[in-house]
Amino acid sequence: MMAFIDSKRFIKRLNQINELDPKSSLKGVNRIALTQEDKKARDQICKWMRDLKLKIKIDNIGNIFGFYNFNRNKKPFLLGSHIDSVKNGGRYDGSLGVIGGLEVIQTLIEKDKVDHPIGLAVFTNEEGVRFAPDMMGSWSFIKKENINKIYKIKDNNNVNIKQALKKINYLGKEKQLFFLPKNFIELHIEQGPILYNQKKKIGIVKGVQAITWLKIELFGESNHAGTTPIINRNDPIKIFIKISEYIYSLSNKKNKQLITIGSIKVTPNQINVISNKIEFTVDMRNPNDKLLTNIEMKINKFIKRLCKKENVNFKINKIVNFKSVNFDNKMNQIIKKHSDNLNYSNMYIHSGAGHDAQMLAQICPTTMIFIPSQKGISHHSKEYTKNIDLIKGVNLLYKVTKDLISN
Ligand code: GLV
Ligand code: MN
Ligand code: MN
Repeated sequence: MMAFIDSKRFIKRLNQINELDPKSSLKGVNRIALTQEDKKARDQICKWMRDLKLKIKIDNIGNIFGFYNFNRNKKPFLLGSHIDSVKNGGRYDGSLGVIGGLEVIQTLIEKDKVDHPIGLAVFTNEEGVRFAPDMMGSWSFIKKENINKIYKIKDNNNVNIKQALKKINYLGKEKQLFFLPKNFIELHIEQGPILYNQKKKIGIVKGVQAITWLKIELFGESNHAGTTPIINRNDPIKIFIKISEYIYSLSNKKNKQLITIGSIKVTPNQINVISNKIEFTVDMRNPNDKLLTNIEMKINKFIKRLCKKENVNFKINKIVNFKSVNFDNKMNQIIKKHSDNLNYSNMYIHSGAGHDAQMLAQICPTTMIFIPSQKGISHHSKEYTKNIDLIKGVNLLYKVTKDLISN
């Protein structure tokens, strides 16, 4: 295969960034946002940016930007993604777009001697597993929320964003939206089975579906499991089971509604004690914003009605509410053209996962390039993409970027 980029250098860096984590087993990574593992990977990327003489700027949410030819009067073409992972996550989700973007920029500087401003972005906390919402860095960058409000968001150990940023030394000075990109492209693994099943090498991404996250708390009263008569019990687990059954009944093939209760926390979590609290999360996704809002309303209504009937206190917290987005058509046509020219089989596709690109799409023409995920596995240490497919993705990103910056 003809490669325009330095494939060896790219693969070596991708391996290097992922093997930094001493706890990583096989091919997975544990790089939760704003932990020491995240810091180590950030430091390594900053080192590579400095080696390439990129001008590094860190903003007030810890997003890292490395600029070639930075110029306040000329919008830079932006590449990038994130490097944080979920717990026991895969090695490509996020890091591909960052390391691949770096490779493209290095090739453009060294081989093509381009002079248009180009930037590489490493967005903070895309995954949202420690601090919600997900896509936090890009969401903050495009100024969707006041930074002081964001700083107050806490993790489960009561550590807030500002403290966590300070601790890893990535609380930067640049303000939200301190520059406006010309375009943004994020290269990413698909994280689903479509390209793999269809045996296509490239996904040209049309857009991202809407996402809502709820955190729901049900309150009860702890007491002895062997002595408390049935009529004196106030057990929130019983209510939770009814609610979860109802929630899952709303998800079906026809309405394309995806629903996941991914986290359940029971207090005090002991075998012989009735629980006094259950806290659980609901991740809901749908390509159709209206349908998603309807489902959310149904869930709210059901919980309210049931809790009233059973005399149980509850709290529903909406922690994420992102609308669906469409990516830029013109950019997608250019991706299609180069993909065909390179003989990389391709198809148009919708993104099931959330991405920083869905935030950037709100401020500049944006799109994404997907490459296949073996068996569609992601958010798991078994996430895998062949080196040859990774290299194709970066080659295509190079061709597209070169085309777009010169026009
Ligand atoms: C981000 O990875 C998501 O949850 O889609
Ligand atoms: Mn990702
Ligand atoms: Mn992810």
